[in-house]
Amino acid sequence: MSGTQPLTERPEWQALVRHQQHLSGTHMRDLFSTDPDRASRFVLKGGGLTLDYSRNRATHETYEKLIALASACKVPERIEAMFRGDAINITEKRPALHVALRDPSGDSITVNGEDIAPTVENTLAKMERFVDDVTSQRWTGRSGKAFTDVISIGIGGSFLGPKLVSEALKPYWQGRLQPHYVANIDGTQLAEVLNRVNPETTLFLIQSKSFKTQETLENSKAARDWFLEQGGTEEDIARHFVAVTTNIDEAVQFGIAEDNLFPMWDWVGGRYSLWSAIGLPVALTIGMDNFRALLAGAHAMDSHFRSAPMAENMPVMMAMLGVWYSNFWGAETHAILPYDHYLRILPAHLQQLDMESNGKRVNQNGDALNYDTGPVIWGGVGANGQHAFHQLLHQGTRLIPADFIIPLQTHNPVADHHVTLYANCLSQSRALMAGKTLDEAKAELAEEGLSAAEIDSLAPHKVIPGNKPSNTLVMDKVTPETLGALIALYEHRTFVQGIIWDVDSFDQWGVELGKQMGKGILDRLTSDRDLSTEPSDSSTDQLIQWFRNRSTTN
Ligand code: F6P
Repeated sequence: MSGTQPLTERPEWQALVRHQQHLSGTHMRDLFSTDPDRASRFVLKGGGLTLDYSRNRATHETYEKLIALASACKVPERIEAMFRGDAINITEKRPALHVALRDPSGDSITVNGEDIAPTVENTLAKMERFVDDVTSQRWTGRSGKAFTDVISIGIGGSFLGPKLVSEALKPYWQGRLQPHYVANIDGTQLAEVLNRVNPETTLFLIQSKSFKTQETLENSKAARDWFLEQGGTEEDIARHFVAVTTNIDEAVQFGIAEDNLFPMWDWVGGRYSLWSAIGLPVALTIGMDNFRALLAGAHAMDSHFRSAPMAENMPVMMAMLGVWYSNFWGAETHAILPYDHYLRILPAHLQQLDMESNGKRVNQNGDALNYDTGPVIWGGVGANGQHAFHQLLHQGTRLIPADFIIPLQTHNPVADHHVTLYANCLSQSRALMAGKTLDEAKAELAEEGLSAAEIDSLAPHKVIPGNKPSNTLVMDKVTPETLGALIALYEHRTFVQGIIWDVDSFDQWGVELGKQMGKGILDRLTSDRDLSTEPSDSSTDQLIQWFRNRSTTN
């Protein structure tokens, strides 16, 4: 927002400050009792998802004020700029065009003078041929046997999105290939996977936009060495190793055959890349039709995001509620609570998506910010979390807004499990909202026959303040379409919050310093140079020395 009023001095921001003070004494219980139709009015639909956002510390006036702030920050104009392909990633001077990866229209979008629509479709067609070749066994392992396992080697955005989708869409697996994911430089992860597979029937996908990421390159080299040790030849590598990258030279130098390269582009951010050929392990596992259905689901959410008025726009409203709690109520974290085993990796994916995007401290002009940006995103699958961290949500001192996510139908009907799971989800969001008053706690204890003194001492511990906000997102079932829409919803929510906070949501300079320092430290760990001459600190030196002095040899 160069040349405009600072965000916190804007009249729309100040109006929200005053409105928060006005609402701070109101309990959500009262909002529900004074407005019995509240739930039916605070519902949005888009991309096969339905959002109930009635359990928020918000009235109609709150939403008007939040939308006024979004308008003042030019949210609709910025949404258009993204879809148009403007260079909205300003520090890297690039567009952020993940939406083009799932746009089936074929409408032209120009980046640096080139229409990328045919490039996207050609890549999907190449993926389709590859998936078909592998599944029909035209492309086999070195001994002519069909592939049984695919090991995807990548980290961050080249790992979490595909891993989430493969796990979430397990009911759609075609049953031919078992996917495995190796991300960490902790050798245990690779070793555990390699121990379980047959080198003759294992396909390796090296997934790295940059082809420079240390963890991915080291794991890929180790995988190649293992493959050669297990009887594979240099010529066999072309049958067993495929890569997805923008860095063709490095990939070829690594030994990947040019035909085995799938393109990536600078205009797709790593954490937004699962829709590109980075989704190859998913496509191999669920088939190309289901992969295209995933893209279609995301596209449905894109269309909703681009066309729905802000007050009816699911990503915009969820984003503005997040801003409301982060900047006006002091919430520092946001919980993602999927009530579906298949969605158990969603919190980890959204953690990278949101925290790498909006964990920023300067605005687009490079000026330090005087307001909070991205919250800590965390969470876990329900109902397990209820018996673990939900205690803090109910009675802790912090305000933690939560998103409950649940399908109406399960892929695995077992006895009364699904209805019980659904009941758990609803009881948690209701308990967070309504809580339990001191009088209610005392009445319960009296009913149990406790003495007056016992009631007085125990009752305060049983009070649940309530008034804890949550959204509930419901879908018919976890399908490729609804999952695509769900992930796209959070991508857009993140983008809108970045617009309000005036940060570049598409760069990630913060991860670079650790990488730079890592090189020097690795060098010092593996040599016996005199540490006193190196720029360092006594803690790092001490930890290096401990490692050098270790008794084992590896
Ligand atoms: O270190 C962070 C990061 O740059 C992510 O943004 C990215 O998704 C990940 O590393 C992997 O990068 P690459 O695909 O280039 O190996």
